[in-house]
Amino acid sequence: MQKEKVYVFDTTLRDGEQVPGCQLNTIEKIEVAKALELLGVDIIEAGFPISSPGDFNSVVEISKAVTEPVVCGLTRAVEKDIEVAADALKFAKRPRIHTGIGTSYYHINYKLNSTQDKIVERAVAAVAYAKKFVEDVEFYAEDAGRTENKYLARVIQAVIKAGATVVNIPDTTGYTLPEEFGAKIKYLKDHVDNIDDAIISTHCHNDLGMATANTMTGVINGARQVEVTMNGIGERAGNTSLEEVVMILKSRKHLKLYTDINSKLIYKTSRLVSTLMRMPVQANKAIVGRNAFAHSSGIHQDGVLKKRENYEIIDPRSVGINESSIVLTARSGRAALKHRVEKLGYKLNKEKLDHLYNEFVTVADKKKEVNDEDLKILVGKEKRGPRSIELTSLQVTCGKNSIPTATVTLEMAGETFSESAIGNGPIDASFSAVKSIVKKKVILEEFLIQAITRGSNDMGKVHVQIQHKGNTFYGFSANTDIVTASVEAFVDAMAQIV
Ligand code: KIV
Ligand code: ZN
Repeated sequence: MQKEKVYVFDTTLRDGEQVPGCQLNTIEKIEVAKALELLGVDIIEAGFPISSPGDFNSVVEISKAVTEPVVCGLTRAVEKDIEVAADALKFAKRPRIHTGIGTSYYHINYKLNSTQDKIVERAVAAVAYAKKFVEDVEFYAEDAGRTENKYLARVIQAVIKAGATVVNIPDTTGYTLPEEFGAKIKYLKDHVDNIDDAIISTHCHNDLGMATANTMTGVINGARQVEVTMNGIGERAGNTSLEEVVMILKSRKHLKLYTDINSKLIYKTSRLVSTLMRMPVQANKAIVGRNAFAHSSGIHQDGVLKKRENYEIIDPRSVGINESSIVLTARSGRAALKHRVEKLGYKLNKEKLDHLYNEFVTVADKKKEVNDEDLKILVGKEKRGPRSIELTSLQVTCGKNSIPTATVTLEMAGETFSESAIGNGPIDASFSAVKSIVKKKVILEEFLIQAITRGSNDMGKVHVQIQHKGNTFYGFSANTDIVTASVEAFVDAMAQIV
């Protein structure tokens, strides 16, 4: 069986743009339209020309700016709307008018205050009128999801007879179940005599989180156009996501369906839309979310490193993401740590890696995520090898209205020593305790604390410079606890004297 094409109708600039706060100016819309053209969408719904002069102008400018895709303008089943849309589309190389009317019991009775017969008449009249301006006319049966199938079939048959090239079956309220939506499309295929003279389109909303599932059952049952938006942006809970449907069709080859989307541009386009529309993409969003290809549990990381397909059904590169990311957290295992450390260019033997792992787990318990900078420091400490003095325990009490006190335990030449001291702060108290154990006369010449990257849970780097009998010694450490980092750095410098 030959593969069949599914047309991608992108409505990011119409349904997507209806989201409060996501409005774009004409220049931004042209940028998105050009990106959608590069992405390979077949139809761009550029706006609702009668709704505002801004929308009219955007449809005009997008019509001029793109060459390949069909440019479509939305209308109600109203003559004036259709005339204005035709005017806005006058520069489009391939114009389409998208006209329609509500067909559900609710819409006919409570929105349009009409009857089923009159709605069929208006639908047919709208399509026939649009046909006077353009050849390509798409009809939408608004709230088709809640429209009784028999009546829907009657409307669809009539509009195809009037010349509709595409018939759009929207689940406007996102109400239908996937099996109901699939059955609706099948019903139309089976009961509309002239159905093969038009393409069936799906237009699903995500109110119950079923937009993609409904679109897919629609396609499986014969729809050959999908109305989608980038990142699933759209009215209320949004529309079907372009990236989800495209990647389902690409991944599930047995369906024998394809789109002309260049999937490698998906991520880039997603980010452009998100930035311009000021609408963040949720981290766990399928395909384009920050975590869509991030693995954090030890078992998964180990599995992905052995063979990506163990836990990934899509190669991240196929959507334009360079590689899956292994996020190092407290749940990561040795395999992931070794992989990342080697990527940073370090080779550690088993013993050093085991030791690094213990340090890593301690840091990871304090920080949500251990980044490359943290790792470089931990590896650096690891490479330095054992010191003649080690800080084995540190306890401090400090704060407003209390005397800073520190108890330090050090290991020197296999023996353990503890001392307590007070000071003008926890670091001063700790240094005094260290000095009274090590019993060397030193002058602290420099003491520098730096946060490494961002966030209050970050590692602090401490550099210390001390003088002993005219010689200078340097100490360094990093820790999420800056008091500990300071004492470790001081001990590091002291260890060079002893
Ligand atoms: O959701 C819907 O029914 C629509 C139509 C205007 C196509 O957006
Ligand atoms: Zn819609």
